[in-house]
Amino acid sequence: MNIQKPVKKPHIVVVALAEDAMNIQAQEALSRLLPTAEILVYPDCIGHEAAADCSGLLVWKPTTDLWAHFPNLQLIQCSGAGVEQLLPRLSWGDDVAICRFVDPELSHNMANYVLAHILADQQNVISYNDAQQRRLWKSYPPRTGNHVVILGMGEIGRVVAERLASLGFQVSGWSRSVKQVEGIPVYIGQEALVELLPQADYVVNLLPYTPQTEQLVDKLHFAAMSAECCFINVGRGGTIDESALLDQLDAGLLRKAILDVFVTEPLENDSRLWSHPRIVITPHVASISNLDHVAALFADNLQRITQGEPPRYQVDATLGY
Ligand code: NDP
Ligand code: OXD
Repeated sequence: MNIQKPVKKPHIVVVALAEDAMNIQAQEALSRLLPTAEILVYPDCIGHEAAADCSGLLVWKPTTDLWAHFPNLQLIQCSGAGVEQLLPRLSWGDDVAICRFVDPELSHNMANYVLAHILADQQNVISYNDAQQRRLWKSYPPRTGNHVVILGMGEIGRVVAERLASLGFQVSGWSRSVKQVEGIPVYIGQEALVELLPQADYVVNLLPYTPQTEQLVDKLHFAAMSAECCFINVGRGGTIDESALLDQLDAGLLRKAILDVFVTEPLENDSRLWSHPRIVITPHVASISNLDHVAALFADNLQRITQGEPPRYQVDATLGY
């Protein structure tokens, strides 16, 4: 008797994103990109015989018990640029590649967010909205200060910097290592940062959250900013000292803060940040990952690993980003 063995699919992949709709979208995209793979969704896949053989995981924020279900991973693909939530997994060793999401559209949308908020601030959009509510015929002189300092000149920071510079803003960058960006001076080191901050009309924080950047923007840095400065945080909440920021705003020593990211997300209902007159809040939406692009990078990285090639945008375990 000729007994045929079942054909083993080359890859078992699990999608563990933030919402069901996202999981379904990613699952559909991956089914098209990896037609021979089995694409499962977490947590429905728990107990599924194949789950333990999963080689690739697409994830945003892992639950603490997630890893135990997938002992044979080769690739963990983050659906976002920031990977601090996956860092504990890095300490397990080098057996699995952790990759972050890099995409021109992600950078482009971040540049739009930053530009929109700076222009709205310069043109007093909030004051006019408020005046309209009160049927007040009043003019507000546009703000003219246009020196933008960008903390973090990586994949996204660089695009934001170049966009602003191309529109006539004076832009300075600050990062961990030296880099050449045409027309934009990029500084490194604490000394340079403390010298740079007083010159800024806008400070845009695009730093990743790592052990080295935890509360990097602290009391001293907020104090170095001018009272006319507007601080924009689109990196991570944990990279700044939120209470030092509040103190500076309360004292009128910092004009405004535009915050998209927070130490605790979602921002607690009773947080003082919500109702502060000098703070504008958005709910971590400055730039949202395009899931089809995420799926394409994941599929490409999985194929690269299968072929013995290095995946793209692998996180450096030592640096944590
Ligand atoms: P990259 O890793 O490409 O860039 C990070 C930058 O930060 C690099 O320039 C790096 O320096 C610099 N940096 C890291 N550590 C330090 C340090 N200790 N001191 C000074 N500079 C440092 O990241 P991306 O540009 O892709 O993304 C940046 C961050 O933006 C993400 O980590 C995420 O937290 C946030 N983000 C937020 C979104 C939102 O919707 N709010 C959306 C997408 C991203 P060097 O170049 O020398 O390595
Ligand atoms: C990201 C984010 O890291 O959405 O991509 O914050």
